[in-house]
Amino acid sequence: MRLLKIGILVATAAAFLVTPAAVAGEIVIKFSHVTSGKKHPKYLAAEEFAKRVNERMKGKVRVEVYPGGQLFNDTAVLIELIKGKAVHMAAPSLSKFESITKKFRIFDLPFLFDDIEAVNAFQASGHGKAILKSLKKKGILGLAYWHNGMKQMSANKPLIAPADAKGLKFRVQQSDVLVAQFKQLGATPQKMAFKEVYGALQTGVVDGQENTWSNIYSKKFFEVQDGVSETDHGIIDYAVLVSLRFWKGLPDAIRSQLAAIVAEVTAERNGLARKLNLENRRKILDAGGKIRTLTPKQRAAWRQAMKPVWGEFSGGIGTDLIEAAQSFNK
Ligand code: LMR
Repeated sequence: MRLLKIGILVATAAAFLVTPAAVAGEIVIKFSHVTSGKKHPKYLAAEEFAKRVNERMKGKVRVEVYPGGQLFNDTAVLIELIKGKAVHMAAPSLSKFESITKKFRIFDLPFLFDDIEAVNAFQASGHGKAILKSLKKKGILGLAYWHNGMKQMSANKPLIAPADAKGLKFRVQQSDVLVAQFKQLGATPQKMAFKEVYGALQTGVVDGQENTWSNIYSKKFFEVQDGVSETDHGIIDYAVLVSLRFWKGLPDAIRSQLAAIVAEVTAERNGLARKLNLENRRKILDAGGKIRTLTPKQRAAWRQAMKPVWGEFSGGIGTDLIEAAQSFNK
């Protein structure tokens, strides 16, 4: 009985720690995402957004950020955003929209964008804005794109040539384009939530994965891999989302102030994402991780091996959109 009472006390205290009591009349925004790490682009952007709202809109609005997937994973969060009750904002990776729309598939085509600057320009174009806006029919409003960065590939053996990936099992995000990308290499892709990746690599459920430097460092994937090959073969970026149902219920003045703060944080943080990823790359090396750089010829071989994926999806995505995206490469 005594133990039970202590248990209840601990649980109540924990609940208060996570969700401080709301001030009467204050609007609470629960912001859920899956990453963590003090040098992670999304983690920092979400914290900065909350800090500015909580300072400037004190007493009216409070943002509570739930990082590390402690509230929902990125697939469940889309459903919860549509409902607009348990969570109000989120920033899932652009590779996690397969369950509600195919419009984001363009972002997963391997070797489509040369760098994050090209991604940025495409997102700012009419095409990028239209993709974000298309979510409205689903009950979700896309407010902005946040950058993470370029993806690298790792496995429990060296990956130098595309043939090295053959026969290996790779974890992928919830994207059919990424499934096709690994099948193209003769590998076996497996969709899996971000939270499960470290354990799956450690126990050999999968042999490899693809991710940005900041995700590879903050989740310590490099510790359970032979090394990371610097392929820069794709991107991981985010859509900053708000539940449409929740958004519509807000007073106009609150809505515009929140949108302005998102825009402000987006402009500042997106400019720093590249630098942060390079810092994370350095930290992997400092921690004893192995990074393999590829020669232009080696990288071209990966490009050639993966490129047929474009043909598989170009009908659905539209060749005009693919061409528009490529036009932003310098
Ligand atoms: C992943 O699942 O690998 C990433 O999308 C995680 C993230 O949010 O960067």
